Amino acid sequence: MIYLAPLQGVTDRIYRNLFPVYFKGVDIAIAPFLSTSKKMKSMNNLLREHYPDQNTGIPTIPQIMSSQPEDFTRLANALYDIGHGTVNWNIGCPFSMVVKKGRGAGMLCYPDRIESFLEKTMPAIKPKLSIKLRIGLKYPDEVLQLIPIFNRFPLEELIIHPRTGEQMYGGEVDLDIFAQCLNLSKHTVVYNGDIDSFEKFEMLSKRFGSIKRWMIGRSLIGNPFLAEKINFHTEKPYAEKIKIIRAFHDHLFDEYLKVLSGPSHITNKMKEIWTFMGGFFENGDKIRKKINKTHHRDNYIDVVNKVFLETQVSETQ
Ligand SMILES: Cc1cc2nc3c(=O)[nH]c(=O)nc-3n(C[C@H](O)[C@H](O)[C@H](O)COP(=O)(O)O)c2cc1C
Repeated sequence: MIYLAPLQGVTDRIYRNLFPVYFKGVDIAIAPFLSTSKKMKSMNNLLREHYPDQNTGIPTIPQIMSSQPEDFTRLANALYDIGHGTVNWNIGCPFSMVVKKGRGAGMLCYPDRIESFLEKTMPAIKPKLSIKLRIGLKYPDEVLQLIPIFNRFPLEELIIHPRTGEQMYGGEVDLDIFAQCLNLSKHTVVYNGDIDSFEKFEMLSKRFGSIKRWMIGRSLIGNPFLAEKINFHTEKPYAEKIKIIRAFHDHLFDEYLKVLSGPSHITNKMKEIWTFMGGFFENGDKIRKKINKTHHRDNYIDVVNKVFLETQVSETQ
């Protein structure tokens, strides 16, 4: 099973709805986190992106980031009431603003807080719970104290990204610690982190034979054909892939235009997607730079037209 990872600012409802119209092989997604905080948005606002009738694409599990059991429970139950049987708890977000407040990866070095959170929420929430975590905040073995705690609760699954919070998105994933987590855990484990090619997937699936669920983020946005290759072993010619990416891009652009007002909102949105989608092109860095310089919608469209035209021309040469 292939999971689309949550990428705040990218894998939103519109993206997840259109993705399977163009690409095969993704089975399920976790949505980018909803945050419960002091300045908690109204419940309607939080639920807005999650009504099942408007989520017609990849089946999606909502994600909540919170360190407060009461807030978490309220939101989890509201999500259940609109039709979500499972919610995911984010204890991996590494951003300093989040960590400083003891949320996201900021919880990983406090096993007692995690235990107490689960003791309070598990009996109170209506949906099933899955957890997405990193292996520690500072040290990669912090997770080894957490797995025995998780084992005491009836969790749906653990999604493990084997990096510390301090690593952010760089450095190596720690596969040895991941292996230890697998040995210790009685829960179904999902592997997440740096699956950037079919070869990498094969290497990981050989090493971790018991893993059946794989989550991919950045590289699936960069190469949306990767899940088809992994799941069905099929691959389209490059020229056809470019055509499909173009059609997907234009469809996304049209859909975002309907909900984003103001000429720079739409370009900012598309730039976030290009941060990762640029990876599909050989000269991705150059393309990203060009696109990042655009501010107005018309200018953006011109630049994108040129990018696709040049890619098609260089392909036929
Ligand atoms: C821009 C960006 C936004 C992200 N937003 C979230 C998020 O909302 N929730 C979450 O659990 N992880 C989030 N992540 C982490 C990814 O889901 C994933 O765990 C990480 O990128 C490692 O997987 P990958 O190497 O396949 O990308 C984000 C990552 C990036 C780069």
